[in-house]
Amino acid sequence: MNASGLLAYCRQGFEPELAAELTEKAALAGAAGYARAQRNDGYVIYACEEADNLRRNLPWQDLVFARTKLMLIAELRGIDPKDRITPILQALEAHPQRFGDLFVEHPDSDAAKPLAGLARSFGNALRPALRKAGRLSASDDARLPRLHVVFVQGDHLFLAIADPHDASPLPLGIPRLKLLPDAPSRSALKLEEAIRVLLEPEERERLLKPGMTAADLGAAPGGWTWVLTREHLRVTSVDNGPLRQHVLDTGLVEHLRADGFHWKPAQPLDWMVCDMVEQPRRVAERMASWFREGWCRHAIFNLKLPMKKRWDETRLCLDLFAEQSQRDLIVRARQLYHDREEITVFATLRGAR
Ligand SMILES: C[S@@+](CC[C@H](N)C(=O)[O-])C[C@H]1O[C@@H](n2cnc3c(N)ncnc32)[C@H](O)[C@@H]1O
Repeated sequence: MNASGLLAYCRQGFEPELAAELTEKAALAGAAGYARAQRNDGYVIYACEEADNLRRNLPWQDLVFARTKLMLIAELRGIDPKDRITPILQALEAHPQRFGDLFVEHPDSDAAKPLAGLARSFGNALRPALRKAGRLSASDDARLPRLHVVFVQGDHLFLAIADPHDASPLPLGIPRLKLLPDAPSRSALKLEEAIRVLLEPEERERLLKPGMTAADLGAAPGGWTWVLTREHLRVTSVDNGPLRQHVLDTGLVEHLRADGFHWKPAQPLDWMVCDMVEQPRRVAERMASWFREGWCRHAIFNLKLPMKKRWDETRLCLDLFAEQSQRDLIVRARQLYHDREEITVFATLRGAR
């Protein structure tokens, strides 16, 4: 019943990638454990007795395929649907802290989606019971650890704890973004999410300022360019395909019909973003050359993953990018909610303003 290790959510179908990533990074952190993953479950358990080691040495921000990071404390199977609260309170006795919030959820998978109603109604019942037992603060307190109850079946759930400084603040780690009617493409959501999730709030203010310059490689029909113009950046959009007229009408955009793998800016730019559909190694190499040559200080780019060995390819591309850039960079990579068979990378020169 008691369990120890990590519970991390991922995009359905990417459990093997997350399991491989956790196994490798936990080993590097000096923790011995094993991953429990089933394809299409939408989550992975990394069972490990050295929970403290994982808590300290495996930060969520360093994980590519995890939508959030939860510390696993118990697994309850075969619970009586007439009283799920008592076994939960019993399991929590071994973890006497007070929680600042409660999330009752289910993995983002086809199999678990029908549990949404149960999660909602059970949350409404558990919240007052936890408050009565003195285990949950009277109003939400984002500074305290958060309790997660994760239903995988009606009678099978996990209890886990999120450190608010080392986990997504969002239920299931999913940002709910709305595609605005004038967005030229759904891809716009990827860049919007990347800016929101991969940059710290302080970085968003400091690194994205009106009047800054950017290149958008593989820009058509203009979703990413449009997102940048909404931040009042001046954008050179490189693509042989057409851009939507209202994007050009912002007066902030120059459209160049050129090859994004050969074009380079006449002057150094603040930003480069890239969503070209190409082999990830080729993209990673080109992105590295932008930093090496000093053509940009910050970048967000997408790496399309192959069908097989996706974790190996991810690691290889990120290593290749870091090495070939020959710069001291902060790099954060994540498979965003709006990413499909791809990941998104944010890179910035350390100390750049
Ligand atoms: C996924 S779409 C980009 C969508 C865009 N980010 C948006 O939000 O609307 C990929 C684009 O990359 C462009 N592309 C692929 N290879 C390219 C290259 N070598 N040079 C320039 N553009 C390229 C394609 O023409 C295509 O428009």
